Amino acid sequence: MIKKYHFGKPYNTEAVILPVPLATDTLPYFEVSAEKGLSFKLKLEKSDAVYGLGEAMRGINKRGYIYNSFCSDDPNHTEATRSLYGAHNFIVIEMGEKVFGAFFDTPSTLTFDVCYTAFDTLRITCENENMAVYIIDGDSIYDIVKEFRNAIGRSYIPPMWAFGYTQSRWSYIDKADVRRIAKGYRDLGIPLDAIYLDIDYMERYKDFTVNEENFGNLPEFVEEMKADGIRLVPIIDAGVKIEEGYDVYEEGIRNNYFCSDKDNKPFKACVWPGMTHFPDFLNPQVRTWFGAKYKILTDMGIEGFWNDMNEPAIFFSQNSVDETHRKIKKMADEEFSVDKFNELKFYIGSRQNCNEDYSAFYHNTPEGRFCHKDVHNLYGYNMTRSAGEALDKIEPSKRHLLFSRASYIGMHRYGGIWTGDNHSWWSHILNEIKVLPSLNMCGFLYVGADLGGFGCDTSRDLLLRWLSLGIFTPLMRNHAAAGTREQECFCFENPEDFKHIIDLRYRLIPYLYSEFMKASLENEMMFKPLAFEFPKDEVARHTEDQLLIGNELMIAPVYTQNALGRYVYLPEDMTAVRMTGGELSYTEMHKGHHFVEIAENEVVFFIRAGKAIPLCKAAKCVEDLDLDTIELVGTGKEYLLYTDDGFSKDYENPANFKTLKK
Ligand code: GLC
Repeated sequence: MIKKYHFGKPYNTEAVILPVPLATDTLPYFEVSAEKGLSFKLKLEKSDAVYGLGEAMRGINKRGYIYNSFCSDDPNHTEATRSLYGAHNFIVIEMGEKVFGAFFDTPSTLTFDVCYTAFDTLRITCENENMAVYIIDGDSIYDIVKEFRNAIGRSYIPPMWAFGYTQSRWSYIDKADVRRIAKGYRDLGIPLDAIYLDIDYMERYKDFTVNEENFGNLPEFVEEMKADGIRLVPIIDAGVKIEEGYDVYEEGIRNNYFCSDKDNKPFKACVWPGMTHFPDFLNPQVRTWFGAKYKILTDMGIEGFWNDMNEPAIFFSQNSVDETHRKIKKMADEEFSVDKFNELKFYIGSRQNCNEDYSAFYHNTPEGRFCHKDVHNLYGYNMTRSAGEALDKIEPSKRHLLFSRASYIGMHRYGGIWTGDNHSWWSHILNEIKVLPSLNMCGFLYVGADLGGFGCDTSRDLLLRWLSLGIFTPLMRNHAAAGTREQECFCFENPEDFKHIIDLRYRLIPYLYSEFMKASLENEMMFKPLAFEFPKDEVARHTEDQLLIGNELMIAPVYTQNALGRYVYLPEDMTAVRMTGGELSYTEMHKGHHFVEIAENEVVFFIRAGKAIPLCKAAKCVEDLDLDTIELVGTGKEYLLYTDDGFSKDYENPANFKTLKK
């Protein structure tokens, strides 16, 4: 059961789309204080758990740390980081036998102090006194998640080709470069479904333009790649370059479509294109206008997009520059010291994405004029909504690939997310494992991280291990930052090791696609913590580096350097499936603790007792998969397969479900 409570005059974020009447009782569970903004307090016992919060660092059980819900562009995130790119304010609290969910629906910053300041206290605070809070009661975590997901609407469904392996880099600089990548994969027979175009495909980083010198006649090039089973996926950034004669800029100015400053002038700040204006995505008219621009690229044959820099990221504003100059000038007249040096260093670093800039511009929304800092968390959501709604109009019967960096709950209806700028660090593999189920709880099913790591140089062993997790994530993309070592699979020694792992992904696609579709259609989770499935098993409850995928599989990825393998906990008997040199072998294993040896070029995963999964033959791209080659493996006798044409939207058609029997 879901109930809604209002505090002050909440902003309608449109995260919840199910009509939920206002409750007449007072908010249960929490002690509420409205002294400074709002604060919700709840006492917890030592063994109680708090799950959720979507994209966040630390454990699957969020206890013991403090998190700020504030979409943040922080490429150097570590365990100490309190905010990531998404703001996902949904939690499920397990208190002894009792379990309930709570969604704190506000576009402002929220702090979740999950037993960090006081061991026994969960405290949620917000400076803004306006908020809607939804409380969901149910018998299990799964029930609560399902009820919540039902209220926020069906998760975005990508085309089937978007389940293929995809390659990215900032940036493939021209057509020859893209052809080189395609050839690198095709020559070695490593499957590949898409190549991403980062900002350099544009003319001076202007959205919806194409650099004619390097990517001239893009439609023909799109066709050429598609003929080889490879789609091109361009990036779209939130900021619009200020440049006379650039139609997007001029139309935006003419129609007052950009966020404005306190004097009602378009707010200016610097991002990749230099000085930009930010479309006011919180205004429905602006969403319609900006979204319609995607047609420029769909008319060229493009079928997928990634929306970026939409927290929005701000490198600096003129105000920041002026302040910095003032500070430096003042310091020049004083004696320089270590303290001054550190002060200056900190000051300059803190100018990027600073509160002063986020406080300096405004949105004209259907609910009135709002300062950006009060509605910050809705920006990326509404940029992607703008694209999603437009694509539905541009090509109504077709699915498009769409994912975003910044997000808020509600955006899950329009696109997926990738988890932003990670690093080629082992700890970021583990972090991905932990974030996947939390994202699913909040509605985000089409998710994935930059495999191999975005920042700093990757290493062969790290990439192999990360891919061994990535073959299970719906979005499977290898992406790297400018200036880092090349990390396409064909750049490394013994590339057949990469081929075998990626081939396995393609063999698993009938399963992954079926489980994804079931999760989306039924409002369920695809990635599940062991704690949710085996709540009475104390070891399972505390195992956070293994996940269940769908109803049949369990994974236990290796995420440490130099590992011979890893300890795996089996909460029940399972069949271990081992891929070595492209061949699969099967071992029955008993419930309990095991050390499982897994070489860098091997993958091991587990099929639950009495269950079977479909495996098909690998192919160079998703469209070439032959479902007639499916065999069922595992101890079970049947499997409910979901298949469709992979493009259209007739999801509910009963013909899409087929029971396969051994
Ligand atoms: C941001 C994105 C990254 C992209 C880069 C250049 O850092 O997160 O994925 O490659 O911008 O566009």
